[in-house]
Amino acid sequence: MILAKKELKQYVCQDCGAVYPKWQGKCDACGEWNTIVEEVVGGGGFSNFNPRKSKGKEIEFVPLSGAEEQLDRLSTGIGELDRVCGGGLVAGSVILVGGDPGIGKSTLLLQACAKVADLPTRPEVYYISGEEAIGQVRIRARRLGLEKTPVNLASSTEIKDIIATLEKSNAAMVIIDSIQTMYLDEVDSTPGSVTQVRACSYELIKLAKRKGFTLFLVGHVTKQGEIAGPRVLEHMVDTVLYFEGERGHHFRILRAVKNRYGATDEIGVFEMQDKGLVEVANPSALFLAERQGNISGSCVFAGVEGSRPVLVEIQALVSPTGYSSPKRAVVGWDSNRLAMVLAVLEARCGMNLSSQDVYLNIAGGLRISEPAADLAVALAVISSLTNKPLPADMVIFGEIGLSGEIRAVAQPSLRLKEAKKLGFHSAIIPQGRSTDKKFSVDMDLHEIGNVQRLINLFN
Ligand code: TYD
Ligand code: MG
Repeated sequence: MILAKKELKQYVCQDCGAVYPKWQGKCDACGEWNTIVEEVVGGGGFSNFNPRKSKGKEIEFVPLSGAEEQLDRLSTGIGELDRVCGGGLVAGSVILVGGDPGIGKSTLLLQACAKVADLPTRPEVYYISGEEAIGQVRIRARRLGLEKTPVNLASSTEIKDIIATLEKSNAAMVIIDSIQTMYLDEVDSTPGSVTQVRACSYELIKLAKRKGFTLFLVGHVTKQGEIAGPRVLEHMVDTVLYFEGERGHHFRILRAVKNRYGATDEIGVFEMQDKGLVEVANPSALFLAERQGNISGSCVFAGVEGSRPVLVEIQALVSPTGYSSPKRAVVGWDSNRLAMVLAVLEARCGMNLSSQDVYLNIAGGLRISEPAADLAVALAVISSLTNKPLPADMVIFGEIGLSGEIRAVAQPSLRLKEAKKLGFHSAIIPQGRSTDKKFSVDMDLHEIGNVQRLINLFN
């Protein structure tokens, strides 16, 4: 057919992949602006590939069992960072570090660079800043006391120059701070645009895989909490880490949301001090440090983040509303989950919360996503409503179902052991767990099967 020879143009959103016959400023599918780019395709909208004419090479199949690839891991000397990366940096892997501006991404990576560069084997470490001038990075290095470490520092935004330089090096670790400032000549759009970010990342990732260095890409986060630029960036890299924390708190949490070389949901906890980020080996003790016992509306949730138990204080305040519809405000937890817990308490326990404002806060600036916190939230709310404090030496965990049943959660003994270590003597836990053979914790366990029984605890 003649049509097959004709070149066809189509307009593709670089963010979500939606295809349009004409250019337009805004993508109707994902709502992004200026992401639609012209692409030339073969006739009829398909590629020119013809499987009968073009001969491909045969690929070889192998059995599932076989010699395991030994991963070469490099320790950064920052234990919390190593753990989140799955136990050190894998050679040739690419790690995207996202986070709000000013949260400490540059500080963390500069500290990691300095540690690695100082190793006895003297790995070559390159820190390329597109955001700050050399002088600014030097000021930070001096502040951190790292100015003597053999880190190679440069300020550049030209991907071509960066690649040409790294090509000749023997790099073990490279930091690009940030990917949104990088620029590739061949691509005709501004730095930070979807196309630029994608093209620059692609070139850098190719080089990292070929030369076998660990590449860190710093990425900014949009107001919605996503790494700015295309979502495809998250698919291109091996590991995605988010650096998060509340403004006004010193704690910073490094969280793995994707990891091809380790577990996700692993967290690393740091404290931002005036001489940089300091690892927090025992986060529970830190999160509970300012807790005041015997206050109504407060309780301690025994949570698990990744492989590590973390105890946090959950605070609720219930007060008569002055509005026509009561206010619900949540810091550090999912507001839909709070709405669900309140609805269950109303429907199954006959509590009246419709004329009450409810405020919920996870003390210390940690964000919890575990449903296991349901029971602790419910107890904090009831405690505030009845104005009766819970015992100060008690921890709580359990998930609440819509019919009011309390469900078992993962790793109960890990949670209880941590609680015991920190001096807690009793716990409220889901029913049917203490018969578990693994339970050998010497604590006063109150098992609860249904939310209706919660009210009795306060009588
Ligand atoms: P920075 O690493 O520049 O953040 P990002 O790269 O994520 O934008 O961190 C900047 C903040 O950290 C800044 O507000 C000052 C604070 N800070 C300290 O409190 N102590 C320190 O030692 C350093 C270097 C920064
Ligand atoms: Mg920075």
